[in-house]
Amino acid sequence: MAEEAVLGFLEKNEEISDSGQFASEQGIDHQELTNVIKSLHGFRLVVAQDIKRERWALTNEGKMYASSGSPEVQVFLAIPSEGISLEDLQKKIDASVFKIGRSQAIKNQWVEMGKQLVTRKVHHVEDKVKDLLILVQDEKVIDPKDIDALKRRKLITSQTWKGYSLRKGPCYAPKRKKFATDLTRENLQRGEWKDLEFKEYNFLAKGQPVDGGCLHTLLKVRQQFKMIFLQMGFEEMPTNNFVESSFWNFDALFQPQQHPARDSHDTFFLQVPSTTKTLPEDYVERVKNIHESGGHGSRGYGYDWKREEADKNLLRTHTTAVSSRMLYQLAKDGFVPKKYFSIDRVFRNEAVDRTHLAEFHQIEGLVCDRGLTLGDLIGVFNDFFSRLGMKKLKFKPAYNPYTEPSMEIFGYHEGLKKWVEIGNSGMFRPEMLLPMGLPEDVRVIAWGLSLERPTMILYGVDNIRDLFGHKVDLGLIKRNPLCRIGIE
Ligand code: PHE
Repeated sequence: MAEEAVLGFLEKNEEISDSGQFASEQGIDHQELTNVIKSLHGFRLVVAQDIKRERWALTNEGKMYASSGSPEVQVFLAIPSEGISLEDLQKKIDASVFKIGRSQAIKNQWVEMGKQLVTRKVHHVEDKVKDLLILVQDEKVIDPKDIDALKRRKLITSQTWKGYSLRKGPCYAPKRKKFATDLTRENLQRGEWKDLEFKEYNFLAKGQPVDGGCLHTLLKVRQQFKMIFLQMGFEEMPTNNFVESSFWNFDALFQPQQHPARDSHDTFFLQVPSTTKTLPEDYVERVKNIHESGGHGSRGYGYDWKREEADKNLLRTHTTAVSSRMLYQLAKDGFVPKKYFSIDRVFRNEAVDRTHLAEFHQIEGLVCDRGLTLGDLIGVFNDFFSRLGMKKLKFKPAYNPYTEPSMEIFGYHEGLKKWVEIGNSGMFRPEMLLPMGLPEDVRVIAWGLSLERPTMILYGVDNIRDLFGHKVDLGLIKRNPLCRIGIE
């Protein structure tokens, strides 16, 4: 309606000099008119120029008096013709209105404040203040002296009013044309295409958000670790078997068969198929011997090693099972120095809580070469962890059945300002390496850590179940940053 009014008026008239005036003449809300003007101006149907005017507007107090009368009149009207005690009068009127109204009424000589009674001095009064306020409200011109008086009583304030003056624009038409956004089959059939005007392309418009796939947080951090390993010249081990035999998971790693980790409380054993089909028999024999009676200077464990235990299938408890397969293969193929890594899933029969799941991802690295020392191990770790932003490392003696010495690795977390445990490490024992057939002087340094822990630190996740498993919030995964730099 407002649009028709503007375009229609401009068809017959040169200009609309004041949108405010136009709005009140046409009975249109000025805000609504303003919106229409902006749109018409945007499409160049009209040319709009800003106009500003200072005008008077009622304050809240002013608005109150414009509707319910000035305080002085309210006080006057509350006095009956026979008079009233001050006390009773006060009760009839709101305290703030009474205070102002009384003094104004006295000033106007409308009332007499007798000792006992307040009485009217005139029969009739006119509410000039209320009338003036209504005039101001209606934007009528009033005497500057009255303006002054209202201003002093803080019943009106000056306000800047914004409006427009309008003329025809270069694309003026008495009716806005609807632009076509699509060329349809009907347009072509009916020949309408000849007269249609098409909406211009807006190349600056933002498109629909792309709802494509996205990487899970763990995959993003896995990629970062992978890049670190690759930059350091490591090769990836094939970890594509979740099911492993106890032999490769434990026995090959010189882990005795009565070790508590081999209990079903700690490890998931498979029911079908419950046992492995093939193991390298000659190597199995050497492993059995080293467990039972030692060799190569070791005393072994001195117990009866059982093949049935080694055959049992399980969900691998660590990717070190793969490392043992790889080292055995390396010995078989003829030893050459190697750097291997893997990042993949492992399973432990554990109670699930905020920081533990029954399955997680293990990052594993190993370096094998002749004559490696503890110094090499510390050097490799400094290199590896400094690439994650961990520059300060500390080591604490630990125990693993397959490493000697074994060390827990701690890193100083600059963000948390404390030492945090970041991994487990060690040099594989001769009892593990020599039965494989590796040369005597070959040493293997190895370490392992979880992928979940650094990911939780990097992405500020404090419950592992928000990261992994059926409770993961996919929206959160989508909104995560593309990557995070450094572990701090
Ligand atoms: N397998 C160990 C673990 O599960 C990690 C590790 C790997 C420790 C290699 C030492 C050497 O915690």
